Amino acid sequence: MSVYQTYYRESIENPEQFWAEQARKITWYKFPETILSRTRAGFYRWYEDGLLNTCFLAIDQHVAAGCGDRVALIYDSPVTYQKKSYTYSELLEHVSTLAGAMQAKGIVRGDRVVIYMPMIPEAVFAMLACARIGAVHSVVFGGFAPHELAIRIDDAKPRMIISASCGIEIDKTIEYKPLLDEAIEQAIFKPEFTVIVQREMATATLQEGRDIAYTDFIRNAQPAECVPVRAIDPLYILYTSGTTGKPKGILRDHGGHAVALQFSLEYLYQIQPGEVFWAASDVGWVVGHSYIVYGPLMRGCTTILYEGKPVRTPDAGAFWRVIDEHKVNVMFTAPTAMRAIKKEDDDGKNLQRYDISSLRRLFLAGERCDVATYYWASNLLGIPVIDHWWQTESGWPMVAPVFGTDQPAIIPGSAGKPVPGFDIRTLNENGDPLIANQEGFIAIKLPLPPGCLPTLYKDDARFVSSYLEHFPGYYLTGDGGYLDENNYLFIMGRVDDVINVAGHRLSTGEMEEMVSGHKAVAECAVIGMADELRGQVPLAFVVLKDGISISEDEMEKDLTQLIRKNIGAVACFKNAVLVKRLPKTRSGKILRRIMRNITDGEHYVVPSTIDDPYILTEIHDALKRRALGIAFKTITLS
Ligand code: COA
Ligand code: AMP
Repeated sequence: MSVYQTYYRESIENPEQFWAEQARKITWYKFPETILSRTRAGFYRWYEDGLLNTCFLAIDQHVAAGCGDRVALIYDSPVTYQKKSYTYSELLEHVSTLAGAMQAKGIVRGDRVVIYMPMIPEAVFAMLACARIGAVHSVVFGGFAPHELAIRIDDAKPRMIISASCGIEIDKTIEYKPLLDEAIEQAIFKPEFTVIVQREMATATLQEGRDIAYTDFIRNAQPAECVPVRAIDPLYILYTSGTTGKPKGILRDHGGHAVALQFSLEYLYQIQPGEVFWAASDVGWVVGHSYIVYGPLMRGCTTILYEGKPVRTPDAGAFWRVIDEHKVNVMFTAPTAMRAIKKEDDDGKNLQRYDISSLRRLFLAGERCDVATYYWASNLLGIPVIDHWWQTESGWPMVAPVFGTDQPAIIPGSAGKPVPGFDIRTLNENGDPLIANQEGFIAIKLPLPPGCLPTLYKDDARFVSSYLEHFPGYYLTGDGGYLDENNYLFIMGRVDDVINVAGHRLSTGEMEEMVSGHKAVAECAVIGMADELRGQVPLAFVVLKDGISISEDEMEKDLTQLIRKNIGAVACFKNAVLVKRLPKTRSGKILRRIMRNITDGEHYVVPSTIDDPYILTEIHDALKRRALGIAFKTITLS
């Protein structure tokens, strides 16, 4: 039996013993006596009576072990021409001072703190400072517009918000403070105070009595010690797109998170303490939480905080420069980043300028990795390129083709096999198990392993309705796909209203709510349209109210502005098509899937329940008119 088979079987047949053993690999103030238990609501939780501190694991333990001089964090910012390294001792000083300042302002265990920051070291300090004193952080991606930030403020009710005067997007300075002010204005809940990192590229105007400059905030602060917290206490809330305008507050607890990340770095990413790990993502996404901040630091690695893009900062050799300069051993990014490099430098000329021999493996996730991108990257780099699958809810990989000392067994197009702890099944719509190669809903048999969401923040009912009630005894992932005869998982895409734009998870349901709010719109459907660079981009089909006259171009312009203003430029909303009607079933359900099939030029089957098949011809015609470059396929009538 391979190492993988041994571990996998043990994790499924005897999860308590398996995860008790893994828990021994981290340091606890009190090792848990209860490994797996259930709440009154019936939800599973891990290590209920354990006591620990995540910041201690990420920093203090390494300093105490004599590794204080090891580099913990490298800030590399091609957009500001800055580079800075922090040893574990220096990181401790920054984090404990900030934590002390927070305590002095009355922030205590359980208080929420929103972090709305660009990719600067203070963002990492802030996350770790919260963890140190048991405060619960909620990082909001800096590319989100005020409306999105306001929704999160109203849900998390933070006593404090930490932000910066600006972020830099290639050569544009994005002033964050006016966005923050607008969000606080829009939110019903008001934070007590904000802390603003003043960056030299743009200085923010501070509001007397509410805003404090970061440097003033930490001046004279006494360093705070780590506060022991319960394993089941929340470390953070990370909002992610669901099917409606209200994002879901994914909760992460301390104990399961620490054990799961340690396990993943040891057995999946296979990185050793002292080595360099680089996740080229953003602290606003789960990848940033798990693999820029917490995971690599807990493992005693050097982690890289990169404030740049794969291209144009300054060129398509940007990633190779970082790998060479910081001697990166293992890297993680989204396939879209590879596609961006490929688009500008298909034959990899830029690579010749750098020595990337330190790099052992490149991991890709966040969206589907198309086979062409997989081959391009692996041929160019000559190392294993590893697609793996997970989501904000899981917090760490659920499926991967690597484990321990086994050789990576990669099948291009598949994200690999279930990771130990994840009992992955494919089910039909009645919840019956499917046989190999049959496509259906991807679900996970409960209990989920440590590290996965225990529930949604203050919303047990939505946790049940979103994930648990479809198939009793299973967690519904929201993805569709199939397992082959060797248990390799092939992801075919989301089965709900979530789309993935350049690795950013967004809700078309939320966009529909906004588009419907336009005064000329009677009804609409927003779908994800295939895009060569970004994987998907949104496309709106709009039915106008009777008697309204507005041109298609004008409508597209209006909606583009609307989505930019309310969600953010990151949604890349640029396309709208006017149609007379939307295809629906006789019971009135909009047939979004068929619209997606038509738009992506895929073969599709017209369901017998369709109200009027002729509408599909109108959809074809409308798309042709907009010249979206679609190669239409034939229709089959069922
Ligand atoms: N703050 C403010 N604005 C942001 C932002 C941020 N953090 N991130 C993106 N934006 C804005 C951009 O400025 C751009 O605005 P514009 O339309 O006014 O030009 C818009 O959002 C789209 O940004 P982006 O998708 O980054 O487009 P791009 O053309 O600049 O770059 C890629 C394309 C593929 C290079 C880029 O999307 C990329 O690096 N993707 C990888 C994503 C990733 O790592 N995802 C994490 C999942 S693991
Ligand atoms: P997020 O929660 O933002 O990490 O997005 C998670 C979603 O991204 C998943 O549910 C999938 O739809 C998609 N995704 C992530 N990784 C992969 C992958 N390797 N292959 C296919 N889809 C992926």
